[in-house]
Amino acid sequence: MKTSIAVVGGTGAEGSGLALRFAGAGRPVRIGSRSAEKAQEAARRIGGNCSGHTNADAVSDAGIVVLTVPLAAQIETLKAIRASMAPGAILVDATVPLEIAIGGRISRTLTLWDGSAAQQAARMLPGVPIVAAFHAMSAEALAHLDHPLDCDTLICGDNAEAKAAVSELAALIPGVRAIDAGPLDNARLLETSAALLISLNLRHKVKHSGMRITGLPVGAGA
Ligand SMILES: NC(=O)c1ccc[n+]([C@@H]2O[C@H](COP(=O)([O-])OP(=O)(O)OC[C@H]3O[C@@H](n4cnc5c(N)ncnc54)[C@H](OP(=O)(O)O)[C@@H]3O)[C@@H](O)[C@H]2O)c1
Repeated sequence: MKTSIAVVGGTGAEGSGLALRFAGAGRPVRIGSRSAEKAQEAARRIGGNCSGHTNADAVSDAGIVVLTVPLAAQIETLKAIRASMAPGAILVDATVPLEIAIGGRISRTLTLWDGSAAQQAARMLPGVPIVAAFHAMSAEALAHLDHPLDCDTLICGDNAEAKAAVSELAALIPGVRAIDAGPLDNARLLETSAALLISLNLRHKVKHSGMRITGLPVGAGA
């Protein structure tokens, strides 16, 4: 598998936070954007072994592609990258299907025909291993490199090898534990739990509530 990680939508809050952490751990990161210039600017800001590209170019040389765009942009972005993805590459979907996509509230989710945003991604990319992850990882917390995160990230998918690879990716972020949360069919639970965290942030006036699962055996990761 190619060693680079592409972050599609990596100019945004969540994508640049994840890219900062992956680059900070010494991994080559390819920031993707609709604009190569915007991606290059974000890559310069992030530093490390980070480069900026159009979304399609970013994924062409990556073993793992992390998708961090709003729901309203998810399908068109997947259409823009699918022909360029490297053979065997994994897609990690972090999309939370928030009602804000149709002018509603940021603390509510929408019901999608496929069951979840991650399953929608799977429909758009047949044959590509899809892993749902990083939904409960706040962009605000990711942005502060000097602070380890204090949260678990639940990972869903139907391909064990892909889940193991994403579990290793999550472990690059200090303070994060990846937990295997079952098949892609469970992704709707991860996505709605992110809306719960947004609701907690609003209620308690913070920007980075997170989640810890207790009672699991050591090695519950994917
Ligand atoms: N923010 C968080 O704390 C957080 C936490 C967990 C999961 N998430 C999920 O991660 C995803 C990204 O969140 P975010 O807060 O980073 O979003 P964002 O900053 O609003 O957008 C991320 C990037 O997506 C691209 N984009 C935005 N609107 C687009 C459109 N209409 N068409 C095509 N591309 C568009 C833009 O990249 P270019 O202009 O460079 O193309 C933008 O920089 C969302 O699905 C969100 O639910 C967010």
